[in-house]
Amino acid sequence: MSSPSQIHTNRIQVTDSSPKPRRGVPPQGEGGFDECWFPVGLSSEVETGKAFSRAFLDGRVVVFRGEDGEAKVLSPFCRHLGADLAMGEVVGNDIRCAFHHWKYDRGGQCNHIPSTTRIPKTAQLFNFPTAEKWGLIWAFNGMEPGYDLPYFQEQDQDLIFQTAAVADHPVDHWSLLSNSVDFQHLRFVHGLDFDAAPDEINWSKTGLEYPMAFIDPTMGRMDQYIKVFGTNVITLSGSVGGMPSLSMYAGTPVPGGLTRGYTVAATRGDAGSPEQLQGVLDMTQQFFVKLIEDDTPIQNSLRFREDHLVEGDQALGRFFAYLRNYPRSHHSQAFIT
Ligand code: FES
Ligand SMILES: [Fe+2]
Repeated sequence: MSSPSQIHTNRIQVTDSSPKPRRGVPPQGEGGFDECWFPVGLSSEVETGKAFSRAFLDGRVVVFRGEDGEAKVLSPFCRHLGADLAMGEVVGNDIRCAFHHWKYDRGGQCNHIPSTTRIPKTAQLFNFPTAEKWGLIWAFNGMEPGYDLPYFQEQDQDLIFQTAAVADHPVDHWSLLSNSVDFQHLRFVHGLDFDAAPDEINWSKTGLEYPMAFIDPTMGRMDQYIKVFGTNVITLSGSVGGMPSLSMYAGTPVPGGLTRGYTVAATRGDAGSPEQLQGVLDMTQQFFVKLIEDDTPIQNSLRFREDHLVEGDQALGRFFAYLRNYPRSHHSQAFIT
């Protein structure tokens, strides 16, 4: 039989080892969304003269491509009665609502109402900074882009690439990226060996970068330059068989607490024969998709907490602080939800 004092002691022990309040990183949507360049869709999905609806943040946007070929991302709900402009028609470089034919220019300003010449000044859609690169259409969450579109260490103009969508993840976009500075998991989850974790990571307010060498059981030693943009994009720049092997993952928040992911594999267009180039693109993509697949079962089931960080988690701890300090906003909220 236990004495009353022993029972008391046991209770204290249980209380002490129980989980601490979660520090961590607030979920996307709390206090806004990170101010990043987010891909909203594949370029190949958006034909010239067509409009499409795409999930974005906690709502959706309209993506359309004018007759001049330029793609644009705007808030989707008409400022008349709220019809979804993705149901409308692209007229030249403008978009026209299907309901009563109000028309908007690429900056989101209404420029034509069939029933009046008095156009309300406030008949303006939310105008997302938009760009197209790497086979993706990107929108910046914010009024002005806070940094350049993601890129590789090679000169952009020399690169060929292939882009693919990957499955949605039920975690915020930074979660997969935190893997990049979680050096311990590289061994245990990905079977990658490395001599030492980098002593120096260059941190800025909107990204981080560092060189790293891994030893992959099938591909051998791989020297990589790793660069994180914002909180949602990572690029790995390295080489295989003397040819550049470049890969990118980009994640985008969509409703339901999901992250929609895309991968880009790239190499230099003059680095080999068409067959060699295709070979290196396929190998790069497979390597990168395999990394994501290795991570997926763990990522999809974790309940993130930042309970105990130890010595080997130093870079990871700094990454969590970077995420907590990263600017968030949601200027488009009233327009897209
Ligand atoms: S709802 Fe769009 S024109 Fe009336
Ligand atoms: Fe990983």
